[in-house]
Amino acid sequence: MKRHEFFSTLGISAGMIYLAPVLSSCTKESTDTTTPPGGGTSGAVDFTLDLTSATYASLNTNGGSIVKDNIIIAKSSAGVFVALSSICTHQGSTIGFENAASRFHCPNHGSNFGLDGSVLNGPATSALKKYNTALTGTSLRIFA
Ligand code: FES
Repeated sequence: MKRHEFFSTLGISAGMIYLAPVLSSCTKESTDTTTPPGGGTSGAVDFTLDLTSATYASLNTNGGSIVKDNIIIAKSSAGVFVALSSICTHQGSTIGFENAASRFHCPNHGSNFGLDGSVLNGPATSALKKYNTALTGTSLRIFA
């Protein structure tokens, strides 16, 4: 008995055999791409950055910023740390920090947000979620 004949006796067509792994991967992939701010699956935000690390060196300069786990952390020109969701509330693009204008800017459609996450101009209509920051020595904690 040939393979296709065997599967035919089970009521399974060749198309079903080849589609099953594809459909399975699509389902898994779609659930894996949803990462809330803070990473992980719970969306809980509480992590600490070691500012002596080269990875976060830009935060030692006023006007510097980094993005980690869908949160943008910036050091304003006044030396104040600000942490906001980096996911634009319009259509989800990643925002950047513009120190000269003291704002967060979305490169996709031009929305701007203030240092408190509020909308300065649309098309976004909702504020970015703001997180707390606490600096202890060279450790910067970001938390909800
Ligand atoms: S995605 Fe940010 S303004 Fe449209």
